[in-house]
Amino acid sequence: MRQMFVAGNWKMHGSKAEIKSLVTGLNALSSRAGNAKVAICPPALYVDYVSRSLSASNIELGVQNIAEEPVQGAYTGEISAEMVKDLGCQFVILGHSERRAIYKESDFEIANKVDTAIKAGLTPILCVGETLEEREAGELESVISTQINAVVEKVGINGFKKIVIAYEPVWAIGTGKTATSAQAQEVHAFIRGLLADYDTDIANGVIIQYGGSVKPANAKELFSQPDIDGGLIGGASLVAEDFMAICEAAGE
Ligand code: 13P
Repeated sequence: MRQMFVAGNWKMHGSKAEIKSLVTGLNALSSRAGNAKVAICPPALYVDYVSRSLSASNIELGVQNIAEEPVQGAYTGEISAEMVKDLGCQFVILGHSERRAIYKESDFEIANKVDTAIKAGLTPILCVGETLEEREAGELESVISTQINAVVEKVGINGFKKIVIAYEPVWAIGTGKTATSAQAQEVHAFIRGLLADYDTDIANGVIIQYGGSVKPANAKELFSQPDIDGGLIGGASLVAEDFMAICEAAGE
């Protein structure tokens, strides 16, 4: 039985004042998550500040990126997986489409970061997803397979015991256009099938979140699908009431 898991990706948002108010709201509403696992991923610079303000013991912490390099050293501007762990984080979002598209992170680099994260004891939230052009060109399955297989090649199928996957169709991110629950379910089942070709037990155990314009109004329908195990939430994770309503839909 997979536990439902909702994570908030704050992206590059927030100030001390805004975060204080958001975390106060999350603390007050955290019990609404019920049985769902919940994590928030603030900008790395604010992780310690968030952690000091967070009294809700059921909300875990993560970041949105780490360095590829496994050990600390002369890498100006980078943050290591071990530093992230040291600050009390359990999760790191990797392979987000914004990092793939804006910062040109390759499948190879992302796979290396996943490996680095696992070795440091972090749980990577590995994002995969197709653009609208790829979907319309019939390339959905090949795009997703390439993204997943690059990671299997690096960490082996056993690595997926320690990985959470987030399916985020690029065309649904921040656009208000959610994949229908049927469209999302179809891709989630495809991803699980892909992993099942390597190992059925691992495929059945892996948590696959859906991400892309998840809101309180559509969360319940998405989360009721058999292969959707929660969500990776962008915009709505910046509003305590909305985020906890989404968590509640997962925790019912
Ligand atoms: P939105 O929920 O704002 O569409 O963002 C989704 C996302 O990118 C989460 O990682």
